[in-house]
Amino acid sequence: MENNAPEKRKRILSCIQPSGIPTLGNYLGALKNWKTLSEDFDSAFAVADLHAITVRQEPAKFRKQITEVLALLLAIGLDPEKSIVFIQSHVPAHSQLAWILNCYTQFGEMSRMTQFKDKSKAHADNVNVGLFSYPVLMAADILLYQADLVPVGIDQKQHLEIARDIANRFNTIYSPTFTVPEPYIGKQGAKVMSLQDPTKKMSKSDPNPKSYVSVFDTPDVIVKKIKSAVTDCEGKVCYGEGRDGVNNLMSIYSCCTGLDYDRIAADFEGKGYGEFKAAVAEAVVEELRPVRERFDRYMGDKAYLLDVAAKGAQRASSIADRTLNKVMKKVGFVLPK
Ligand code: TYM
Repeated sequence: MENNAPEKRKRILSCIQPSGIPTLGNYLGALKNWKTLSEDFDSAFAVADLHAITVRQEPAKFRKQITEVLALLLAIGLDPEKSIVFIQSHVPAHSQLAWILNCYTQFGEMSRMTQFKDKSKAHADNVNVGLFSYPVLMAADILLYQADLVPVGIDQKQHLEIARDIANRFNTIYSPTFTVPEPYIGKQGAKVMSLQDPTKKMSKSDPNPKSYVSVFDTPDVIVKKIKSAVTDCEGKVCYGEGRDGVNNLMSIYSCCTGLDYDRIAADFEGKGYGEFKAAVAEAVVEELRPVRERFDRYMGDKAYLLDVAAKGAQRASSIADRTLNKVMKKVGFVLPK
């Protein structure tokens, strides 16, 4: 987030939870865009470990997942000298601002969040207060960095709206304090669907591993999973209403190859799903191959990863603390000497 340009560069921020092995959905819906956008914007990306404990995590596994997701952020090609890459819990301002913003957020607003409703059903034995106020922490993540743009998949849109509402409310009660962020949702890949039930989002928490491609799956596994993807009995590769399975594969293929739907339909005219799925699988394997290779290299150098995290947290804190101080002054806290 260094700012040497004469005009102020726009800022982007986004985060990913270390709550399992990220999927092709996370990659195409978010991570791939992060890398592209990081070339044109000041950027900060975090491993959202505080968010992940809203569902129970097994400590040793959790620690490993946090390290893996950090390595993944580098493996997708982010340059930690340019982008700020950090672990959320290493920057205390996130928790501090989240508490303050909790007091500017209404119970009713949070109760309407669809993700809260879904997750409380999925984890009925642990509907904790953190799960309820999750979007407030997310608002804090974004607002601390005065982010203009937040690249996410469609499932995060409602959370972004709340972050905007909270920012506007605070700015109105006091005076302009926060940049009001806009979501950045890619045209393609914003909602990659399950391979087994293409009416549902592809998710790392799906109990059926055949429903998702993990970014660390081997080529053999990727081929098997895509070959067993649910399609339909029309046997025609073209995008259309009610053709969720084929649409999903076309969208995945389009993201990996850059080809549009008309071109894909033309290329596969008269060919069956078998041939199409083989092409999709190959495109996914080739898309993920360099990510996987770089990931293995970074995981082999934990000292380097910790170093990146430490520097990232330092740079992140210097921006976040500035915003937090401003907020505390406006609210009327007595600041420490
Ligand atoms: P998370 O960890 O569930 O997912 C990380 C990113 O991946 C996107 N995504 C998908 N995109 C397309 N198709 C899918 N099937 C798919 N599954 C996931 C998500 O939209 C997301 O962009 N609450 C966030 C993490 C977060 C955050 C933030 C994001 C915490 N603080 C601040 C932005 C800004 C989450 O749970 O993402």
